[in-house]
Amino acid sequence: MIDLHCHIIPGVDDGPKDSEEALSLCRMLQKEGVKVIVATPHYYPEERLSVGIDEVAAGCRELRDLLGDNGPIILSGGEVAVYNGVAEAVFEARVPLLGEGKSVLLEAPFWQMPLCLEEEIFKLLANGYRPVLAHPERSREFRYIVDDLLAMRRQGVMLQITAGSLTGSYGTHVKAAAGTLAAQGGIDLVASDLHPGRKPDLKAAYSVLSRLIGTAATDKVFYDNPVKVLSKIGKGCYPCNC
Ligand SMILES: [Fe+2]
Repeated sequence: MIDLHCHIIPGVDDGPKDSEEALSLCRMLQKEGVKVIVATPHYYPEERLSVGIDEVAAGCRELRDLLGDNGPIILSGGEVAVYNGVAEAVFEARVPLLGEGKSVLLEAPFWQMPLCLEEEIFKLLANGYRPVLAHPERSREFRYIVDDLLAMRRQGVMLQITAGSLTGSYGTHVKAAAGTLAAQGGIDLVASDLHPGRKPDLKAAYSVLSRLIGTAATDKVFYDNPVKVLSKIGKGCYPCNC
């Protein structure tokens, strides 16, 4: 399994405070069957809050050394805030992408969706990038935006649900929102969004989703689509290079 969204780099965002805590999060993911972890610290446009691409890469190297040969593969990434100009920042390689592909993980805000979202997404798609929208089901205005989300998906955006949303870890409203997307075939990916103090919930989410949409469709969400996200568009898959 590939986890495309988690906060495991020590000391850079609201993830682990030190290497020991980071290792324990990686071990939790490993126990859930995760073989490839994409570390996605928060990225904000204000420089003082941001984690630089070099800093993420250094954090990944440190984790790889600590985990050793039997550990999961650690790839660098970022969870990028949606702001006016984020597409240009992607084109100029100022923000982290997911692994070595052309996918960018965009953070769906918990409150109102930014007015620039549609335009930034359009620019990314038009320039060959694949936007992945993280946890839209956790937005307070989900029921007002569900049709817009499904429309964005039809244009090429991938919708990524947090595993704990399906299991009920974020409450009944969020669980219902995840169920609504599942019923409309609107879940492309499930990821842990692991932070200290939370559980990955991936295995449990797999069970919930397979009851909702069937095993074949759930396998696509958990196994096939993450490989697609990490692929260089049109140039084979990473890490299997098929
Ligand atoms: Fe996150």
